[in-house]
Amino acid sequence: MKLTVRYGMLVKERVEIIVLGLFDAPRITPVLKRFDKALGGEISRLIKSGDFRPRLNKTFLLPTYGLLPTKRLLLIGLGKENEFTLDKVRQVSGTALKTVQGFGIKGVTSQLYPLKDSVEQVSRAMAEGAVLGLYRFDRFKHLEPDEAKEVKSLTIVVEDKARLGGAKVGARRGQLIAEAACQARDLVNLPGSEATPSMIANEAKKLGRRSGIKVRVLSADTMKRLGMNGVLGVGRGSAQPPKFVILEYGKRRPGQDTVVLVGKGVTFDSGGISIKPSQDMDKMKYDMAGAGTVLSAFRVFARLRPKAHLVGLLPCVENMPSGKAMKPGDIISCMGGKTVEVANTDAEGRLILADALAYTKRYKPTAVVDIATLTGACVVALGRLAMGMMGNNEELRKRVREAGDAAHERVWELPLWDEYGEAIKSTVADVKNIGDGSAGTITGAKFLEKFVDKTPWVHLDIAGVAWNDKDAPYIPKGASGIGVRLLVELIMNWKKFPAAAKRDKK
Ligand code: BES
Ligand code: MN
Ligand code: ZN
Repeated sequence: MKLTVRYGMLVKERVEIIVLGLFDAPRITPVLKRFDKALGGEISRLIKSGDFRPRLNKTFLLPTYGLLPTKRLLLIGLGKENEFTLDKVRQVSGTALKTVQGFGIKGVTSQLYPLKDSVEQVSRAMAEGAVLGLYRFDRFKHLEPDEAKEVKSLTIVVEDKARLGGAKVGARRGQLIAEAACQARDLVNLPGSEATPSMIANEAKKLGRRSGIKVRVLSADTMKRLGMNGVLGVGRGSAQPPKFVILEYGKRRPGQDTVVLVGKGVTFDSGGISIKPSQDMDKMKYDMAGAGTVLSAFRVFARLRPKAHLVGLLPCVENMPSGKAMKPGDIISCMGGKTVEVANTDAEGRLILADALAYTKRYKPTAVVDIATLTGACVVALGRLAMGMMGNNEELRKRVREAGDAAHERVWELPLWDEYGEAIKSTVADVKNIGDGSAGTITGAKFLEKFVDKTPWVHLDIAGVAWNDKDAPYIPKGASGIGVRLLVELIMNWKKFPAAAKRDKK
């Protein structure tokens, strides 16, 4: 989509359609007043009569019958003015663009929505909503003419010259970030047979060639040498070779922080020998959403160039049953030497993350954030609205929480009390990869905690949020891309981690 921000007077725009936002119990904004006047009070009448009640995301198409240079107006409800937020800007923007797309109109002109937040934030949210809302995964579909309609351009007209610069910057950022999130969606929506570990590694290498990001892919031999038997063990049942992808942006300068982002990359999770029921197993192509999220976050870093040293680790495997596959009851040693009783081969994410978390040590990181579709229990606990957050450091949890709120990719914290660790004690190994069936999301995190030592660390369980079962204003059914904007927010606003913010007291 071509996105333009320019100065102008909306009433004078000679275009196909202009999008105008209306508050419920409307405050007639100056922009609206000019349109209302040109239309002989038609907008006021519509509202007074109740023909259009501007509730959030409700739309009304109004032809202008030659009374205005624009052929049509799309009125869109913004809901209550005192409840209007940046996320609602995203929603409304997504809804408006999808509606226009349905009409078969290719170019949209829009007002900058009236919100008191900084103009940069508002135009960024508009761009995000538009790009995220128009996303479709249709590369395997022969589209009916009706489905092939596509909005090709969005022009945001700013009526106040002083706000033009900020609006431009915000829109450009929003577009870039949202496009990266859409690339994550593409990877996640792709079938397991397309988005294999090798394919993800190649995507990462492609990014490396185009940007200043250093990309390395560890071969199975190197992994063997490093003792990464979590990744190797899970990958053993598959015909697809496992890949351990390392992305590095910037370098460590004295006194600077290093942040490592780890993403679970199980390109298909059949469960292995502890095989999953066939019902909904097809969805397990989205088990690499963590890796897709981290990869896309690095796409953004390559463009926005934060002053930081960042490392991305993507352990990528396919979890399959076969004669060579790991068996329930096997004991493996992960990187660093800790032994794991693999009581259930379907709890594979934590095995590959164990190696990745152990691998972070060589960077002596300031902070580690892992993001993973780790447990079905998280879907039960939090549904599709919040990711589960657990960690060992309040300062880092606070930063992640704030980034999540800013991006409206919200996290909800679960406790990591020591007592929860009881359930993953093993009689034959250092730790067991499943608990007793209760608090599954937390026991998953307790397992990971064993591989991070004292480094400030946060684990994000995105099993629920990574996939949408139904359409939302700017997240269509399927892969959500959730996590990308949170990570970008976290890193772009990163301030030196205070030395005083050590580990939580136990
Ligand atoms: N990838 C799944 C978790 C998952 C489930 C993600 C549903 C998205 C939707 C993970 O590898 C898994 O199978 N976890 C098991 C763990 C259990 C065996 C301890 C689970 O949640 O059932
Ligand atoms: Mn599994
Ligand atoms: Zn899994």
